Parts: sequence; C-alpha cells; structure tokens
Amino acid sequence: MLRNIFITGGAGFIGSRLVFALLKNEPNSRIWVLDNLHPQVHGENAKPPFFPNEVIFIEGDITDKYFLKKVVAQARPELVFHLAAETGTGQSYGEVSRYCDVNVMGTANLIESIREEGGGVTKKIVLSASRAIYGEGAYRDKCGKIFTGLPRTTEFMAKGDFSVPLPDDAQHPVSPHPSNTSLAPAPASIYASTKLMQELLLKQSGEGCTWNTTILRFQNVYGPGQSLLNPYTGVLSIFAKQLLEGKKLDIYEDGLIARDFVYVDDVVNSLVKAGQADLNRGATMDIGSGKAVTILEVARLLMKFLECSDESYTITGQFRAGDIRHACADISAAAQNLDWRPQIDLETGIAQLSNWARTEFK
Ligand SMILES: NC(=O)c1ccc[n+]([C@@H]2O[C@H](COP(=O)([O-])OP(=O)(O)OC[C@H]3O[C@@H](n4cnc5c(N)ncnc54)[C@H](O)[C@@H]3O)[C@@H](O)[C@H]2O)c1
Repeated sequence: MLRNIFITGGAGFIGSRLVFALLKNEPNSRIWVLDNLHPQVHGENAKPPFFPNEVIFIEGDITDKYFLKKVVAQARPELVFHLAAETGTGQSYGEVSRYCDVNVMGTANLIESIREEGGGVTKKIVLSASRAIYGEGAYRDKCGKIFTGLPRTTEFMAKGDFSVPLPDDAQHPVSPHPSNTSLAPAPASIYASTKLMQELLLKQSGEGCTWNTTILRFQNVYGPGQSLLNPYTGVLSIFAKQLLEGKKLDIYEDGLIARDFVYVDDVVNSLVKAGQADLNRGATMDIGSGKAVTILEVARLLMKFLECSDESYTITGQFRAGDIRHACADISAAAQNLDWRPQIDLETGIAQLSNWARTEFK
C-alpha cells in the first residue's frame, strides 16, 4: 500500500524541490501538495506548478480550516512537511495579523485537521523552522562563555554603530559563535516570533498523539527556483535580479552583515532524511552550511558569476529593523542524528544560482 505524504507550501522554492526529491527517495508514497500560490511569491494568477501526474496538487489556503480539514481527511497522511508560511522579516512588522494568521493560526489549523481528520495514521510532522528564532544569535567571550547577542537599537545604528550589544558580564574580546539549540530563543522580529510559535504549537500538541514533530531550523536558503518576484525574501535572488537588470546593489550597514548560506538541495536532503529518521519527540536541529560569509563577499561572488563589474554595489549604511548582524549554524546535531552534511559549497551554489537566473532573464 502507498503511504501518503502531505506537503503544505509544496509549490514554493524549497517545497517544489522537496516534491521531486520525495518522488525519487520515497517510491512507495503518494504525494499531496497544498499551496495557495501566493501572488507575492508566484505572481498574479499563477498556474499550478509542473509536477508529474502522480502528485496530487490542491490549490488552497492553510488559513481556511474547513478546507484544510477536508484535504487532510482525503490525504490521511502518514508524514507531513509543513512549509507554507509568510516569510518576510521586514514585511512582518507591517503585517502582524497576516503573519499570525498564516504562520500561527495556519499551524493550529493543520494540527486540528490532523487530530480530527487524519484517521490516526500520522506519525510525523516535519517543520521548516528558522534560525530567526535565535535573534542576534550566539557570541563567545574570552573565557569561553556563550551569550546571546542583545537586540540592536535604531538609535545606535543610525549613528553607524552596527555592533551587537552583549550582557554586562561578557569578558571582551567577544566573537560570533555558531548557534544551536542550547541557546534560548530570542526572536527579534514578528516573523521570528511566529516561527517560534509554530515550533511550540507543534511540539506541545504532539503530546499524547500518534505523531511527533521534528524541527529543522534553516539558515539562509539559496539556489535556483527562489522567487525572483518576492521583494521581501531571498537576498541572493534579489541581488541576482538587480544585477541582471544592470542595477547597482545597495548593500546595507557596512557590508559586513554575515549570513550562513545553505544550498537548497542540501536543505531538501535534510528534510527527506528527517522524514525517514527515527528521532525523539520534538527533535530540533540546525541546518546551514556551518560557515558565515559577509553579504559583501557573497555579492562579489554573484558579480563574478554574472560577469558584472565588481564595483556594481554601494555600501549605503542603511539598516532594517529585525536584520541581525551575524548568523551561523552549529550543524553537529543534524550530522549526528540525520547523518546529514551540506554537499554544495558556496562557489558551486552561486554558479548554479547565476546560471538559473540568467535563463530566467533571457
Ligand atoms: N528560504 C529560506 O531562506 C528559509 C529560511 C528559514 C526558514 N524557511 C522556511 O521554509 C519554508 C519554505 O520557505 P521557502 O523559502 O520555500 O518560501 P516560498 O515562499 O518559496 O514557499 C512558501 C510556499 O507557501 C505558500 N503559501 C504561503 N502562504 C500560504 C497559505 N496561507 N496557504 C497555503 N500555502 C501558502 C506559497 O505560495 C509558497 O509556494 C517557510 O516555512 C519558511 O519560513 C525558509
């Protein structure tokens, strides 16, 4: 008998590649995709994605509880990947209720649908969570003590001070350190808070149920297929589009914001493995490359692969609320529990992204 796998947000950047990876890795499964083809991601009046006939694609919204219940009643999934979400950090400040509706209430609707209509067959829900829940993330002081960076204030940033404040007892010098689940959550944006709520709701509601939750906290995912339309997420896709349009890049702060960029197929591989592994209830892992790179460095790589002048940028000194200064994942838990390690290095990944972006612009 085929086992049913249900993916919310399966028409998106990560979800659509997950569909193809599951077709390859889970041959005895039937894949169901629910996605509302969000215009901000897919454009107005978008057509359903091209999936092979055996994939059941349903256009619908996770905020519509009654519709979601009907779909779950049909699919009766053994395995669920929850990816549907509003994803823009900056945008989330102006659209608090929408972010809560989709990310928090949408997750609540999914939980109730599985409980009430899933037929008691669901064994696992894998959440696409975010490193955003760490806020400014981990810092290590000269005595080896780990601290969470404190939120940066607009008052200081407006004066050009982009440094991350630390608690008074930190012994300087202090340097950024890879974040892992031992760090207490410190979300620094509405988006981050809603992503943390998703984790909590899924973990808590799994108690006493047939299913458990696995949480994968992704760093910055990049690669071919990330929406070139969405101005709120995917800095490398946004940069690629601007460079191909002949524009100069505006690089915020002093160019030294650092991110951990992880290639989309590596992330998809972590999802597939999480779906297959026998893990503890609520197992939580960080998924990234494990290396931080500055926005300026990565922008220069893009300029190289897109054959643009290496001066196609301006360091503007502008800043955005909610942007954190430094992000990097400690990926040892995923290596240990999932036998997962990233396979695609940054140069290879940026080359792939550049080739794809070029064909999109032909
Ligand atoms: N891309 C990243 O860098 C990154 C980093 C951390 C976490 N994540 C998480 O991974 C998940 C997938 O992200 P992505 O980069 O593929 O984004 P994406 O925007 O490409 O995909 C999200 C998909 O969800 C759909 N969707 C949005 N709202 C919906 C709703 N109300 N009902 C049904 N479908 C809806 C969209 O149409 C889209 O196809 C998200 O949960 C995101 O928070 C992504």
